[in-house]
Amino acid sequence: MALILGIESSCDETAAAVIDSNGTTLKERIVAQRIASQDDAHRPYGGVVPEIAARAHVEVLGPMVGAVLADAGLTLDDMDAIAATAGPGLIGGVMVGLVTGKALAMAAGKPLIAVNHLEGHALSPRLAEPSLAYPYLLLLVSGGHCQILEVAGVGQYRRLATTIDDALGEAFDKTAKILGLGYPGGPAVERLAREGDAKAVPLPRPLVGSGEPHFSFAGLKSAVMRAKDAGIHADADIAASFQQAALDCVVDRTRIALGAATPGMTALVVAGGVAANAALRAALEALAAQHGLPLVAPPPKLCTDNAAMIGWAGAERFALGYTDGLDVAARPRWPLDANAAPVRGAGVKG
Ligand code: KG4
Ligand code: ZN
Repeated sequence: MALILGIESSCDETAAAVIDSNGTTLKERIVAQRIASQDDAHRPYGGVVPEIAARAHVEVLGPMVGAVLADAGLTLDDMDAIAATAGPGLIGGVMVGLVTGKALAMAAGKPLIAVNHLEGHALSPRLAEPSLAYPYLLLLVSGGHCQILEVAGVGQYRRLATTIDDALGEAFDKTAKILGLGYPGGPAVERLAREGDAKAVPLPRPLVGSGEPHFSFAGLKSAVMRAKDAGIHADADIAASFQQAALDCVVDRTRIALGAATPGMTALVVAGGVAANAALRAALEALAAQHGLPLVAPPPKLCTDNAAMIGWAGAERFALGYTDGLDVAARPRWPLDANAAPVRGAGVKG
């Protein structure tokens, strides 16, 4: 059995967790976990302010590690390794978590595992459901990333699709801002969409029908802005119509990716913050069924940023003997598939 301390600080959640990789239930695998959201600190600005985020991580993380070990009834000495997010993300925050992980690893004489935050999301479905076997097709949808990847094993990723402009979570967040729903926006848009008519506002479905499975959401966001400015639609109708348009894009793009994937995928898997969206899960469930595959999605609490997924990715790496030196660098950008060809029109998102 491996006990891993996981640390996450790449965006606006400070989190620490103790993972027991041999636990038979999810409750046993997540021995203890704590998350401190910085939502209140960033809300006045309508988005994450990197400097505020980094300072908040500094204040919270040290005591949180002590608290989560106490929750687990364990000490640093009981841990087999320390896993900390080393990127990609806001570099100030990443450095706070990684340096904390290095210091703890050095003080306790334990191995350090530098975890790619995206690998944390990518493997989180196996934390929830360890019987999920490689290879699987992963739709990774968060605030910063929107990709479809084949996951063949730990560290083995083939990117089939990415976004040429905004990530899906970003589109939800921008729509929330346009509708004055505040920050963070995704859950608020989903709630309001339940009260609206998804057919009320005609909105574009960028790239739907294209033969390559890439994403684009910038045009949809502009259309949402114009719909709001027109002043003739109820906000709930705009939210519902936006969500439907975005999901239509995701389902169409994922269908193309399923057709292009290497044969033998065991499941369609969705992870990342937007995977908490119930309408998205329902739409993907239907798509997966059409392809004779199960849809695997972690419980919503494991979809948004957390340290349990970092500890779990650390545990999977540790089991394979992958550890890192204390000189490992924090990386603001760190693509899962370093060989993926750049996409025309794409920004520099990993
Ligand atoms: O994975 P995550 O916590 O952080 C990143 O690594 O980006 O994802 C956060 C993103 C935000 O854009 C948030 O609005 C979105 O996930 N999100 C949702 C929902 N819950 C979180 N989007 C749509 N519906 C939700 N229920
Ligand atoms: Zn994330």
